[in-house]
Amino acid sequence: MSDPALDPRESRRRACLEAMGIPCYLLRSPRQQLPSPSVTSQETPVSAPQTQPKPKEPSVAEMDWDQLEAAVRGCRGCDLHVSRKQAVLGVGKRDAELMIVGEAPGAEEDRLGEPFVGRAGKLLDNMLAAIGLHRGEVYIANILKCRPPGNRNPSVEEAAACAPYLQRQLALVAPRVILALGGVAAHNLLATEESVGRLRGRLHPLPGGEGEVLVTYHPAYLLRRPEEKAKAWADLQQLWRLLHE
Ligand code: URA
Repeated sequence: MSDPALDPRESRRRACLEAMGIPCYLLRSPRQQLPSPSVTSQETPVSAPQTQPKPKEPSVAEMDWDQLEAAVRGCRGCDLHVSRKQAVLGVGKRDAELMIVGEAPGAEEDRLGEPFVGRAGKLLDNMLAAIGLHRGEVYIANILKCRPPGNRNPSVEEAAACAPYLQRQLALVAPRVILALGGVAAHNLLATEESVGRLRGRLHPLPGGEGEVLVTYHPAYLLRRPEEKAKAWADLQQLWRLLHE
């Protein structure tokens, strides 16, 4: 059947072709082109999926406690994440006057997720009890949040990768006094290589932060060298005086 909307010549051409049984192909004008497969004439065009701009991740220095905990739990800033069971952020009172900083989690800490819960931790608890403190009244953290295999000393790179976490803990707790346990803690906190023997007995300003640092022997060292406990006891008495000034 011819289409009355077509011009007479085209109408005739089509009638002839139809009569001959020849299918009639028409060139469509642009307006007559079929809609593209994804869009029908009734539908509004489907626009590309809107990607919401991702909220900016806070830097470690801006994190609150929850963000810091999550960041440390998922940290892959050095190779220690491969061998750790879990990262150990810290424990205790988050606005304590006294913050204690040790070296790194050992096997028990790695297993339980809390700093100083092994043999050295028991001695630390006793040292605190000797000056009337309980671990819940202070904040305890380490230079490293993950256990170095075999409890070896932290490497410079590992300590550097972990440093922002401790810096943030120090800023959030804002302690008046920081007790550095052992050489690794003292050296990293004070950016010095002096021995614990030379650093103990006086207060050191915390570089780039608030609070003052007192240095004493690490409880693990005292377990190996009990003859040094008298010096540690003198340090604890100094700490008690500072906290009661
Ligand atoms: N356990 C810790 O959590 N830190 C140390 O430095 C030693 C044992």
